[in-house]
Amino acid sequence: MSIRIGFIGLGDIANLHIQGLQRIEGADIVAVYDLNRDKAVNAAERTGAQVMDSAEQVLDPERIDAVYICTPQFARGNLEETAALRGIHLFVEKPLGLDLGEVRRKEKAILEAGIVHSVGYCLRYLDTVQQARAYLQDRKPHLIQAYRFGGTHPAEWWHRLDLSGGHLVDAATHQVDMIRYIAGEFSEVEGKFGRVSFDRMQSKGTIYDAGAISFAMEQGAVGSLTESCHSAYHIASDVKVFGHDFFIHLSGNGFGLTIVDDTGDETFTSALDPYFEQSKAFVEAVKTNTQEPILSSYSDGARTLAFTLAANRSAEQLNPIRLSP
Ligand SMILES: NC(=O)c1ccc[n+]([C@@H]2O[C@H](COP(=O)([O-])OP(=O)(O)OC[C@H]3O[C@@H](n4cnc5c(N)ncnc54)[C@H](O)[C@@H]3O)[C@@H](O)[C@H]2O)c1
Repeated sequence: MSIRIGFIGLGDIANLHIQGLQRIEGADIVAVYDLNRDKAVNAAERTGAQVMDSAEQVLDPERIDAVYICTPQFARGNLEETAALRGIHLFVEKPLGLDLGEVRRKEKAILEAGIVHSVGYCLRYLDTVQQARAYLQDRKPHLIQAYRFGGTHPAEWWHRLDLSGGHLVDAATHQVDMIRYIAGEFSEVEGKFGRVSFDRMQSKGTIYDAGAISFAMEQGAVGSLTESCHSAYHIASDVKVFGHDFFIHLSGNGFGLTIVDDTGDETFTSALDPYFEQSKAFVEAVKTNTQEPILSSYSDGARTLAFTLAANRSAEQLNPIRLSP
């Protein structure tokens, strides 16, 4: 059995998903739309899909069974709700948006419709991350330290705080989500952000170049996440989890895992392609009409977004923010 897939937004991330889907049996990309028609035509040439004139045209249940929404977070409109109302299964990229109220409204529509829903927190699909999660299942961390240092996205929208939400909301969200996935839920967050280098360079963008976020977790652990999208000489994305009788280090975006405890010191490296694994799970979920293979639901994505938006808000208000369970 084949499923028919539509794409809305055909930028960098969509192209990675297309490459993955082309290796999965029974996944046919049949309809594509991008505001920039050249990008849609290019994708159509590689997939044999039909180029559509609007997102609305893609979201036709006669045409597709599932849709990948890969437009940036400021450009999703009501696409997710439309897909849900029409019974079209949904894959949507992270972050889910920039307004939590709107995202919660979409979540309700998606859950009520009973469609399969998956959000692009692809690192959850790494075997190393799975192993860290299993290891922590019955252990209690007391401290978490995470960071993400690297560069900027080339697109103009990414450099505008009102369109991307900044590096924490858009990129370091993967580390926030990884913490939630392996170590439990956050209860409080406080963020501080700066623009030292961007200001010196008179950058027209409005995003911060660095952030320092502290947090508390429901189970009592505390921790911090620091991030910079202006770090040319040190690129790293790690999560470290400390307990009184163990230490876990997920390095390189989760591809590396070190576990240290009284049985010794072991290191693992993932050879998986998380985008491919994520799409494989999504296609399987759609084919079997069950949410089970999906590791990041729409509700998961909403909860990770709630943390990052609260960190931004806390910096504006100069106050820590409690997160609702
Ligand atoms: N999961 C991941 O690891 C990961 C990695 C990169 C990007 N992303 C996310 O994917 C999304 C897109 O990022 P990207 O890197 O592909 O960006 P991009 O700028 O490369 O591509 C975005 C595409 O969307 C199109 N677009 C914009 N508004 C549109 C609209 N209203 N209708 C149709 N098309 C529209 C643009 O023309 C462009 O082709 C972002 O939310 C980003 O955070 C996720």
